[in-house]
Amino acid sequence: METILSGIRPTGNLHIGNYFGALKNFLKLQETHNCYFFIADYHSLTTHPTPENLHESVKQVFVEYLAVGLDPEKATLYIQSDLPETIELYLFLNMNAYLGELQQCTSFKEKARQQPKNVNAGLLTYPTLMAADILIHRAAKVPVGKDQQQHLEMTRDYAARFNRLYKTEFFPLPQAYNFGQDLVKVPGLDGSGKMGKSEGNAIYLIDNPDVIRKKVMRAVTDSGPTEMNQPKEEPVQNLFTLMGIASDGSTLQFFEEEYNNCRIRYGDMKKQLAEDIVKLLEPVRKKIEDMSKNTEYISKMVKLGQEKARASAVPTLSEVRKIIGFKTF
Ligand code: TRP
Repeated sequence: METILSGIRPTGNLHIGNYFGALKNFLKLQETHNCYFFIADYHSLTTHPTPENLHESVKQVFVEYLAVGLDPEKATLYIQSDLPETIELYLFLNMNAYLGELQQCTSFKEKARQQPKNVNAGLLTYPTLMAADILIHRAAKVPVGKDQQQHLEMTRDYAARFNRLYKTEFFPLPQAYNFGQDLVKVPGLDGSGKMGKSEGNAIYLIDNPDVIRKKVMRAVTDSGPTEMNQPKEEPVQNLFTLMGIASDGSTLQFFEEEYNNCRIRYGDMKKQLAEDIVKLLEPVRKKIEDMSKNTEYISKMVKLGQEKARASAVPTLSEVRKIIGFKTF
């Protein structure tokens, strides 16, 4: 079975963009691949969260992973900081990562611009830590978005460089996993682009029905079509796309026809869309709530994940140490 790995930074709650864009595919992958999904809490330290925030957000994402159906028996679900082997590999990779290339990395430049007072070394070496995450399990495929492609390229560079330096083929060069047909782009509510974490743009898995209704009713639209079969402006297309995801086919078709005949009332469409999203998320939200309270179960699953992750990481690291030339006296 091919090894697939992906990490998510514990920044806030998961939204339906994460769910339909990534998690649903993870659910399928866990049936057919050797999957590692982890919460990148080391990475989140670049922005100096408080101890309380750090723990809470890691727990929240972990619980949400479980609640949507990721299965700790099938996949390996773990917390990055439970696998300090990653850090030793990170150190080794840092010895072959050069200042120039790290400074050239787009995400580094972007973050340095956003937080000029906190351009720390962790930010600079974010790509080597990510490479360590991937290479510690010698993963073959990494499902990531466009914004992570460069990091993945750098991972391949570091893997190839290590292999060359030590005349080995120990590390496979990880490729992006392409969901192809399965990739769903979920638009946000603010009229443009995909669903992101900005205020009012995203619907979170934990949003209660009232919050969902309010957000959907406030979604951006236009003043309505004036000609039959008029092409849709982006904000309106986004609502239809969301309806395609959350509602059933006949509902979507009904509103398509209303639009094409210039009869559409966006208020009615939004009400319907909101109810369909509520219906879809109610069971998920209840599960998240119940599971959050079950600390015993959470802690058991976290431990299971750690054990499974270590079973893969420890042999990798021991081999790497041997390759580099560390020997016991
Ligand atoms: N950098 C990724 C992000 O910001 C998170 C991440 C950390 C990751 N390590 C990874 C993703 C390894 C894939 C593989 O979204």
